[in-house]
Order: sequence, then structure tokens, then C-alpha cells
Amino acid sequence: MSNFNNTVAVITGAANGIGKSLAIALADVGARVAIADVNLSRATELAEALGPKVRAYRCDVTERSQIEALAEGVINDFGQINYVFANAGVAVPGSILATDPAEFDWLLDVNIRGVFSTIQVFVPLLMKSAEAKQAAHFIITGSENSFGISNTGPSSAYTMTKQASLALAETLRRDLAESAVAVSIFCPGLVDTKLYDARRTRQDRYGGESAMPQEYAERASAAMAQGQDPGVTAALCLAGVANDEFLIITDPKIREFSGKRNTEINHALDIVDTRLANWMTKQ
Ligand SMILES: NC(=O)c1ccc[n+]([C@@H]2O[C@H](COP(=O)([O-])OP(=O)(O)OC[C@H]3O[C@@H](n4cnc5c(N)ncnc54)[C@H](O)[C@@H]3O)[C@@H](O)[C@H]2O)c1
Repeated sequence: MSNFNNTVAVITGAANGIGKSLAIALADVGARVAIADVNLSRATELAEALGPKVRAYRCDVTERSQIEALAEGVINDFGQINYVFANAGVAVPGSILATDPAEFDWLLDVNIRGVFSTIQVFVPLLMKSAEAKQAAHFIITGSENSFGISNTGPSSAYTMTKQASLALAETLRRDLAESAVAVSIFCPGLVDTKLYDARRTRQDRYGGESAMPQEYAERASAAMAQGQDPGVTAALCLAGVANDEFLIITDPKIREFSGKRNTEINHALDIVDTRLANWMTKQ
């Protein structure tokens, strides 16, 4: 994947999990990488391990001013931006009825408003790169949940945000159709990360940081361990980005439920065809 060599990639939520693996994989193919995360100490640890072409930035994507400061910092440090991975995301288990309203706001603010602000701050900079005939690509991390109701869960509010991220990506692609900025949505299946323990980063206004009960953490960690290795997920994602694919799926298991919605839509369309035909004959 030589086309990443010397390009500049910004990754939000890059201190752990999938974002971390993307950072490692991009550094490995010669990209200069901005590791942005709400957890600056972990981001710094990773940047130091990856060498001088990688830098760490504190950025909480729920704070638009921090996203703006990130963009300014990356331009000052690297001079250009070619790939932006809006990857930061949080999840909580539970049904819609059981979801705490403050936590619902948290999911919206990180998973949707955070991506929205990242788009608004970084796409104009990507447009400049495109005008200069450089690579310019915005990548949103969606999920298997972007296509319907996954087999894991319920994490109903999380599922809702990941379906909204697909809508954000599709509308952004249409909005940027006349520009040379590419858009992708990258949809992993289950990946072995710490996503189950996302409340460790929850800001005070949404309920504050909270450690997970030991017994639940052990069960959740064991369930996540059944998922894909994040290094494999990141490599599959970058193959799709390098090939300019809009929809990048990294786990074939998504097939098990992704077709259900189309079947349901087609069934409802068949019903309305019949209903309208019956009404017409009665007129
Ligand atoms: N792990 C999975 O099974 C899976 C599957 C599909 C999609 N995803 C998506 O992948 C993305 C990364 O998740 P992961 O599984 O690597 O989780 P993770 O918890 O291991 O890593 C998430 C990183 O995001 C950071 N973060 C959290 N809130 C932030 C904020 N407000 N601003 C900036 N950074 C923040 C965390 O500090 C952490 O470093 C998420 O968007 C998630 O929804 C994960």
C-alpha cells in the first residue's frame, strides 16, 4: 500500500482498539500519523512507540473547539492532511427503554455530533489537499450495526447511532460528489477491543467515568475476545481505503443479518403493490 507513504492521516479515538491498529498499520506503510484521543497519556505512549513521524493530540470529539485545535495542530506540525478517520466511538448495553437519557446524549455527542463536527472542521482542509492534487479521503467508522440489528446486544442506542453514521456517510458522499474528496464508511463486525468498557472515558456531564463491575467486565471481555483481531480489521480497512471503496466491510459474518432489512422492505413494497392494485379495482 505504497500510496500512503508520506501522506498525513488523522485518527480520532486512536489510543486504543481499532484506531490504534489503524495508526500502527498506517505508520508501517510510511504515513505520518496524528493520534487523537480523549486519553492523551495513552495516545502519547503509542506515538512514542511508533517513532518521530507520529504525534499525539488530546482531542475530545464532543468539544468542537478541541477538534478545531486538533486540525490547527496537525497543519502546524505536518503541513497537510490527506486522510481523516472519524473513528472515536462509545457504546453502552441495554434496550431503548433502559437507556439513561444522559447516556443517550453521550452516545449522540460522541458517535454522531463528534463525526458531524469532525466532518465540518476537516473536510475544508481535505478540499485544499484535493485541489493540490494530493490524496483527500474522509473515513467514518460505522459498524455491523449500521446495517440492522446485530446478533450481539442489545445495545439499542448504540445501534441507532451507527445507523445514523451510515446516513451521514451517504449524504456526505452525495454532498462531495463534485469534489475530489473521497468518502468511505468502514464497518467492522465484532472486534476484540475495550469498547465494552467505554464508560471509562465518560465525561462528567454525562455521568462521569465509571469502572465496570468485575463480573460483567470479565464476561464482556470474553465475548469481545471472540471478535476479529483489530490488526486484521485495520489492514482490511486500509485495503478498502487504498482502493477508494465507499463501503468497507471487514467481517463476512455481517451477512448473517444485513439482508434482513432488504427482505422486510421488499415485503412491505409487495404489500403496497397489492393494496394499491385492490383499491384501484374498487374505484
Ligand atoms: N469493537 C467492536 O466490536 C466494534 C465493532 C464495530 C465498530 N466499532 C467502532 O470502532 C470504533 C473504535 O472502537 P474500539 O472498538 O476500538 O473501542 P475502544 O474503546 O477500544 O477504543 C476507542 C478509543 O476512543 C477513545 N474515545 C472515547 N471517547 C472519545 C472522545 N469523546 N473523543 C476522542 N476519543 C474518544 C477512547 O479513549 C479509546 O482510545 C468505534 O466507533 C466503535 O463504535 C467497534
